[in-house]
Amino acid sequence: MVIQQSGTESRPTLGIRAIDEEDLSGWSRAVHTGFLRSDAPDGTEWRRLSFEPGRTLGAYDGDRCVATFRSFTTELTVPGGAVVPANAVTSVTVTATHRRRGLLTGMMTRDLAAAAERGEAVAILIAAEYAIYGRYGFGPATQRLGLDIDLGHAGGLRPVPAPDGGRIDLATMAEVRELGPELFDRFRRSQPGAIERRPEDWRVRTGDLSIPGFDWKEPFAALHRDADGRVTGMLVYRVSEDWNGGLPDCPLTVADHVAADRAAAAALWRFAFSVDWVQHVKIKNIAPDDPLPLLLNNPRAARPTQDGGDFLWARVLDVAAAFGARSYGAPGRVVFEVADRAGYAEGRWALETAADGSGICTRTGDPADLALDVSALSSLYLGGETVPRLVAAGLVRELVPGAAARADLTLRTPLRPWCPDSF
Ligand SMILES: CC(C)(COP(=O)(O)OP(=O)(O)OC[C@H]1O[C@@H](n2cnc3c(N)ncnc32)[C@H](O)[C@@H]1OP(=O)(O)O)[C@@H](O)C(=O)NCCC(=O)NCCS
Repeated sequence: MVIQQSGTESRPTLGIRAIDEEDLSGWSRAVHTGFLRSDAPDGTEWRRLSFEPGRTLGAYDGDRCVATFRSFTTELTVPGGAVVPANAVTSVTVTATHRRRGLLTGMMTRDLAAAAERGEAVAILIAAEYAIYGRYGFGPATQRLGLDIDLGHAGGLRPVPAPDGGRIDLATMAEVRELGPELFDRFRRSQPGAIERRPEDWRVRTGDLSIPGFDWKEPFAALHRDADGRVTGMLVYRVSEDWNGGLPDCPLTVADHVAADRAAAAALWRFAFSVDWVQHVKIKNIAPDDPLPLLLNNPRAARPTQDGGDFLWARVLDVAAAFGARSYGAPGRVVFEVADRAGYAEGRWALETAADGSGICTRTGDPADLALDVSALSSLYLGGETVPRLVAAGLVRELVPGAAARADLTLRTPLRPWCPDSF
């Protein structure tokens, strides 16, 4: 079929629809094409594992799938430790021959409407490119930081108080599969911006399930247990065996560092820095508030890498539910005038917060303190962005002098949000 690139002749109508399980083969091929993976092996069986009727969209030009989109429901931890149901968007592609004809817009519009209908307070995704999702109301909501720690300069860890009786043991992948989920569940409920890990995520992480086209090398895993034998931390890492003129120069790359408390977290970092032959510890996605660089005697030995930047993007769908679930730094009242082309968050909202950290957000007719697009509101939601910074960037308008500082005190969180997981 010839695709008209210009002129008045009408293009074939491209239908967007929820696919059936038997469409998965062509749909999976379209995902590989959209992500420019010409040599990826067939991914149908892998896709079948996460197939949910109604949640996997495709656009068709005749029989050929030319656009893909999938969503699933997860829990997102918000400031204060509550979780909200979130619509997680993934596998977004449009084949090069069919780009910029509104296919993504069509799929996103349909999926967000369904998410709102299900009562999901927010939608979330990891954006391939910065410019794609702001128009749909998404804003960058968490940051990640990449670190390359030169142990030759780090000077070791400063003494950190450790509880009596803790110990670290290496673990098999089967033990990680058994013990990791409960630990991670405890951790992610204390970390705003974190989401659930599904059973298939654990299988992939531990080599029990492979994603077609992605190589997996078995990592090492170390578990930290407290004096009562309870698992309180987990470090998963790989080491490349590099030698330089008879001297070991092996990088240790962290795949997972999860801890239920600060002592276990520090003990696992200390362990990572103690592995013989290791000269560099590389971390691709560390929480912006992780104390690690400051645990070193020389924090400058932890150099930021190019892996850093925006990570999880959020899109508030239900303002009252989303802002009613999180906690706040100060009591007060702020009125937001929110612009939302899709309508979900459009209007004027009063956020009233109490001294106990709780808050409610309701529609109001009162004059607004701040005006902003829903994408900016979504960037503020988890506490990863500040109001004065968005005012300075022209993304929030301060309608009442002093309102930005006031709102900032309210929305401020003790722990910046972080999402350790891609999806
Ligand atoms: C990104 C992608 C899904 C966009 O699909 P699409 O069907 O071309 O998007 P639409 O036609 O619905 O575009 C809607 C608007 O977004 C803009 N837009 C889309 N992708 C963009 C991009 N990568 N950068 C900047 N603007 C973009 C379009 O120009 C259009 O703007 P307009 O409304 O002002 O005309 C597609 O280009 C693609 O598959 N890219 C490669 C894979 C990828 O990056 N996927 C995203 C993974 S998170």
